[in-house]
Amino acid sequence: MHADVEEVSGADWWRQAAVYQIYPRSFSDSNGDGLGDVKGITAKVPYLKSLGIDAVWLSPFYPSALADGGYDVDDYRDVDPRLGSLADFDEMTVALHAAGIKLIVDIVPNHSSDRHEWFKEALAGSRGSAARNRYIFREGKGAEGELPPSDWESLFGGPAWERITEPDGTAGQWYMHLFAKEQPDFNWDNPEVREDFLRTLRFWADRGVDGFRIDVAHALAKDLTEPLLAKAELAAENETVDGTHPFWDRDEVQEIYAEWRALFNEYTPPRTAVAEAWVHADRRGRYASPEGLGQAFNFDLLQAAFDAGQFREIITRNLTESEITGAPSTWVFSNHDVVRHATRYGLPKGPGRNGPAQAWLMSGGNEPALDRELGLRRARAASLLMLALPGSAYLYQGEELGLHEVVEISDADRQDPTFFRNPGVDVGRDGCRVPLPWTTEGIAFGFGKATAHLPQPEWFSAYAVATQQDNPGSTLALYREALRLRGSLQTEEQLKWINHRNDAVLHFIRPNGWQSITNFGVQPVALPAGTVVVSSGPLMDRKLPADTTAWII
Ligand code: NOJ
Repeated sequence: MHADVEEVSGADWWRQAAVYQIYPRSFSDSNGDGLGDVKGITAKVPYLKSLGIDAVWLSPFYPSALADGGYDVDDYRDVDPRLGSLADFDEMTVALHAAGIKLIVDIVPNHSSDRHEWFKEALAGSRGSAARNRYIFREGKGAEGELPPSDWESLFGGPAWERITEPDGTAGQWYMHLFAKEQPDFNWDNPEVREDFLRTLRFWADRGVDGFRIDVAHALAKDLTEPLLAKAELAAENETVDGTHPFWDRDEVQEIYAEWRALFNEYTPPRTAVAEAWVHADRRGRYASPEGLGQAFNFDLLQAAFDAGQFREIITRNLTESEITGAPSTWVFSNHDVVRHATRYGLPKGPGRNGPAQAWLMSGGNEPALDRELGLRRARAASLLMLALPGSAYLYQGEELGLHEVVEISDADRQDPTFFRNPGVDVGRDGCRVPLPWTTEGIAFGFGKATAHLPQPEWFSAYAVATQQDNPGSTLALYREALRLRGSLQTEEQLKWINHRNDAVLHFIRPNGWQSITNFGVQPVALPAGTVVVSSGPLMDRKLPADTTAWII
């Protein structure tokens, strides 16, 4: 599928694609300032091609103060000068396309940064002005308006409202921010906001961008009619099921995406989109509809333990849903917001998005103990299983190296706002955003010629691309081989489970005879007949050891 330009040029290229997420500031630094940049990505196109992915998704590369790793955008139609220029972006797009790799960029429509021109105008404007009406401003409560308009909390901790100083120097109105205070929420009832995002989408689509990842896609539409409900009266983000929550997953958010879809379909091939929407599973299909964004992230595997029962239930449910909606499933284990899956699987099982990983992070990596080898073995098994599933697979930079989460980051080096807004409770997401190790030595392990913007630990050397490049047993070699095989084996067709008496075994077959079998248990299990084309770890004669996946044709 990824082998050459022709094969990926059809309108359906995205449906079964392997998409590699690049966190641009931590991928490759070409100019030695410690921050990854666009030219750095261009220089690594041969690496991306040899990996065998179909598309790259770039997290934000726009001008930003980095109050939230670039998800605080100053200007949606430019490149951060520290990362390069629009000309560099065009050069990168051409290089990716020449290598047969599609390009997806991140769009952040729920909020801008507080340095965006519009927000500056809003602060300089008066109460009720057109400039304020592009964002969500309210009078405060209390005799002097000194209390926030509601008790809502930001997802990053602390209040969801911030008070401004009016141009005349008096304490003034409050604005809403679901994330950091440097990320004011837009008012999507304002046609100017809608038009501006259409312009942004067109701007990048015209430059050859093939698709868009939509940040917080479920929060744009809001009903903030007074009186605002109290926090205690609101359903949780992913427990909202009737589309009437004041800001999560309101039904009318789909009207916005219907307009976007019309724009995407003006292009040949139509531009694609994937929603980041932490909604109730029953509502995900709305975002993935062909009249809307077309695809939505399913974070179910990312939230599951390494457990055969959980995996089977999640895979079955999502494939059933995909058959109903016609939208291909998405699979993902790691991204820039969660503890890397090699680390999660090396810790005791536990509930939640990060589970015991959060405790492990908070203890500085001491408690509970991390079994690095076990975690990596399981991560390799899980990734190989995922790459055999129908639908698209989203990979996060560094997982092909088997990287673990970095815990060795001092408070002084931390950057994530979730660390600053939750003192003593959350160290944030920096540990999965540490710049990649390309070489075994050097000031930044080949990331660049200066100290990387987040500290890289000594153990990165063992995981460097240079260490793994020519080692057939390496995680990098496993990903390359699996992606190469997937390129010729992947189809739209669904899978059929092959039941074993041992319920720690997950075994399925695709209509073309491609089988994947994973042993989640302790005892080795007999392999089915056929040729093993790849396995996530060494086999024992015809037996599949614990925590291992094999593909058989
Ligand atoms: C989701 C992004 O993935 C995350 O990194 C960011 O902090 C929030 N949205 C806010 O934009």
